This record gives sequence, structure tokens and C-alpha cells, in this order.
Amino acid sequence: MHTGKANFLAVMGAQWGDEGKGKIIDFLAARADVVARFQGGNNAGHTVVVGKEVFKLHHVPSGILSPGTLCLLGSGMVINPVVLVEELAELERRGVDTGSLRISGKAHVIMDYHQALDQANEIFLGAKKIGTTGRGIGPAYADKAYRRGLRMIDFVEPERLRKRLADILPLQNRILQRVYDHPGYDLEELLERCRPASERLRPLVEDVSLLLEQQISRGKRVLFEGAQGTLLDIDHGTYPYVTASSTVSAAIGTGLGIGPHRIGEVLGVAKAYTTRVGEGPFPTEESGEQGRRLRERGFEYGTTTGRPRRCGWFDAVVARYAARVNGLTGLAVTKLDVLTGLETVRLAEGYRFRGQTIRELPVNLADLSDCEPVYRDMPGWGEELTAARSLEDLPAAARAYLEALEESVGVRVALISVGPERSQTITPPGSYLAGWQ
Ligand code: GDP
Ligand code: IMO
Ligand code: MG
Repeated sequence: MHTGKANFLAVMGAQWGDEGKGKIIDFLAARADVVARFQGGNNAGHTVVVGKEVFKLHHVPSGILSPGTLCLLGSGMVINPVVLVEELAELERRGVDTGSLRISGKAHVIMDYHQALDQANEIFLGAKKIGTTGRGIGPAYADKAYRRGLRMIDFVEPERLRKRLADILPLQNRILQRVYDHPGYDLEELLERCRPASERLRPLVEDVSLLLEQQISRGKRVLFEGAQGTLLDIDHGTYPYVTASSTVSAAIGTGLGIGPHRIGEVLGVAKAYTTRVGEGPFPTEESGEQGRRLRERGFEYGTTTGRPRRCGWFDAVVARYAARVNGLTGLAVTKLDVLTGLETVRLAEGYRFRGQTIRELPVNLADLSDCEPVYRDMPGWGEELTAARSLEDLPAAARAYLEALEESVGVRVALISVGPERSQTITPPGSYLAGWQ
């Protein structure tokens, strides 16, 4: 029986995704009973390094690598069943027991036609494209809102799947053929392609809301695994350069079917610098040598699509915003080790916008492209940090940088990551995660 708010811990992306949520979840999951995802789909790419093994997870919660941890896919997700089955097979091939995965029947299904629509739409937009992952995420969520989606509960029942697809497919084909010059899909072929995934996933589909409530009432420790990041949130992000789901902590309730009071602490994961994949504004972006250096040292290439990530300095304005819209109660600062070797490290404390200095994001986030960062420059350090295991192991300049970051964001640092491995994690004294292990 666990008590205390940290036992119901949300782990949220505080920037534009890829903050290292997978690594942080994996680190915490060793002592957790449940890890639940509540939004997004296989646009997510969460990398977890365990010894020499590198796992890239897209649907499956990062808790899967901790034996005995119940892993849940919530109703707020969109799931590509064919890809999920491949993901499970790959994990099993590598010796990971995936028997603890359960899927909400209310989660929506990503079908081939969603992926085709996503990619065709990006081509149609040309230079104005969003830069999506091309996984069909937007069209699947759009169909959910149009009330012509297919849910997991129907996907795993052959008769329901046939009936539902027969209802849905004519319109999908009409759109594909007439708008996008795509040949469309044949019902029987599509059903045949779905059949193995439907059979494989059938025993895993359950009432996830009920399962989770039972776990919570038994005092089990629960981690809520966010995907994407705050600035990619459909409402609170840099619209239209966002993903199609709500990525903030308030989405946990609807995305899992639990009350908001079930969320205890909210941990925001942020890199010690910033990255972004895809299009859209990014005030602290460094497109020259400095950005290239961060990309090479931080190995900043997309986990899902392999695209080079855009890189730049830490943006405290963005992090402060993420703190507000998520109600962050702590920060996990990752990839601090990547900053080693820089003469100066910078963090944006505000912006110059229309002749004024501002400390909060502009009302219209599209105006971010007109915001010039106001930097605080601090001395860098030359020491490698990857072997540090406590605050005292960090050079004074790195500690000073973390203090400045903490002060500027206004949220305490509860974890520091200095490398991709579980062990390369520092829990500062006084952190609410200090008692976690
Ligand atoms: P996520 O989508 O938020 O889970 O993040 P990604 O997995 O897409 O990207 C984070 C990348 O950084 C992964 O390759 C991790 O293995 C790696 N990583 C995580 N934390 C650290 C760290 O502290 N230092 C270094 N060097 N790499 C890290
Ligand atoms: P994780 O969970 C980084 C970005 C895409 C694109 C926009 C919309 O690994 O942090 P979508 O395919 O969702 O419609 O694309 O969102 N994007 C991500 N960027 N990390 C992710 O996930 C992302 N998921 C989507 O690059 O700009
Ligand atoms: Mg990622």
C-alpha cells in the first residue's frame, strides 16, 4: 500500500516532445505497479536504454520493461492495431514479457486509410505542411469527432468490425478517390489485413477505467505516461503546428476514465535545451553551428521518423507556460550531459516582442515566430556529467545553471538525467521522488 501524492504521478512533456519521457518513466517504473498512456498513438517514440539494449516504444507504455508492471492503453488514445501487434512481437522476440498489457475498448483505431489521408494531406499542403509523423493520427482523431471512427471494442469482434467498416468505408473511399486521387480500399482486403491483429488483441481489450480504479483503490502506485509535449497540445500548443490530441495533464482524466483528483504530482520533463520535429515556430532555435553541435552531441534524430530534430537553447518562457497549463509540481531536467563542453550556456528568460519585453507567451502563439529571446548567459563547464549520481558530483557551473533554470521556471527540479540509462539519474535531496526508490 502506497500513500502520498507522488504515488499517482503524471509524467508530462514540457516542451515540443522527445524530452526523454520514456527514460524517466522507465526509471520510475521499476517501483511502480501501473503505467498508463492516455492520449496520442504511434506518433510517439519513447526510447528506453537498458544496458546494451535500446527499445523504441510507440504505443506500449515504457513500464513494459519492468516485469510485473500493469501497462494500460487508455480510451483517449488512437491505436494502429497492425503496428501494435508488430511492436509486441518485436518486444517478445527480445525477451520482454508483454502479458501485462491491457487496452481500452473505447480507444479509436488507426486504419490504413487514416495513414493514407494524413500523408496525402501533407502533400496537398506542400510548403504549408504541418510536418506530421505520417502515422494517421490527425485523421483518426478527426473521424472520432465526426462520429465515424472505429473503436477497439468493435475491431476485436469480427461481425462488428465487418458491419462498422462496411458503414464507414464508402465515405472514406469517396474522399480518398475524389479529393486525393487515391485508389481507395477494398472492404474484404481490409478485413483480411485486420484479422490477425483483431485475434491477437481480442483478449487484451478491457474496461481500463475500471481496472485502473481498482488498482488505485488498492493503493497501487500509478504512473501516467504523457506523449508528445505541451506545445504540441491541440488547444494549448502552437496551433496549427500541433498534434491532434490533448497532451496536457488534464487529459489524463478523460483519456483513462478517472476523476481529476486521482492525479497526484505532475512531473514535467524538459531537456536542458530544446528540440522540435516538424514545422512551426521555435524562438530559441539555433539553425547554425550551435544547433548542429547540440544535434550531434545529443543525437537528436526522431525516434519515430528518423528526421533530424531542430535544436536550440532552453526556453524558460515555454517551460513556465507548461508549468501553468499542466499544474507542474516538479521538473525532470534531461540531457544535461549534452551541454558539456560549451563555453557559455544560455536560457531564454523572456522575449522581445513588438518593442516590449514579455515574460509570458503571446496570446496568439503564432506570434512566437516574431519573438526574439532575451537570454541569460551563464558560464559552461568542461567536465563530462555522465557518471554523476548526486548533485555534489556535478560541477559548480552545472549546478548554477540548474538553479537559474529552476528559478526562472518557478518549479523545483525533482530529477536530473545525465545519460540515457536508468542509473544515469540524480534525485536531488528534498525531491518528492527521493522516497520513490
Ligand atoms: P520521449 O519521446 O520524450 O520519450 O524522448 P525520445 O526517446 O524520443 O528522445 C529522447 C532521447 O534522449 C532518447 O534517445 C533517450 O535515450 C535519450 N536520453 C534521455 N535522457 C537522456 C540524458 O539524460 N542524456 C542523454 N545523453 N540522452 C538521454
Ligand atoms: P513523443 O511522445 C516529437 C509532432 C510531429 C508534427 C506534429 C503533428 O515521442 O514526444 P502528428 O503525427 O502527431 O499529427 O504530427 O507533432 N510530433 C512529435 N514531435 N515527439 C513526439 O512524440 C511527437 N508526436 C508528434 O513531428 O510536428
Ligand atoms: Mg520521442
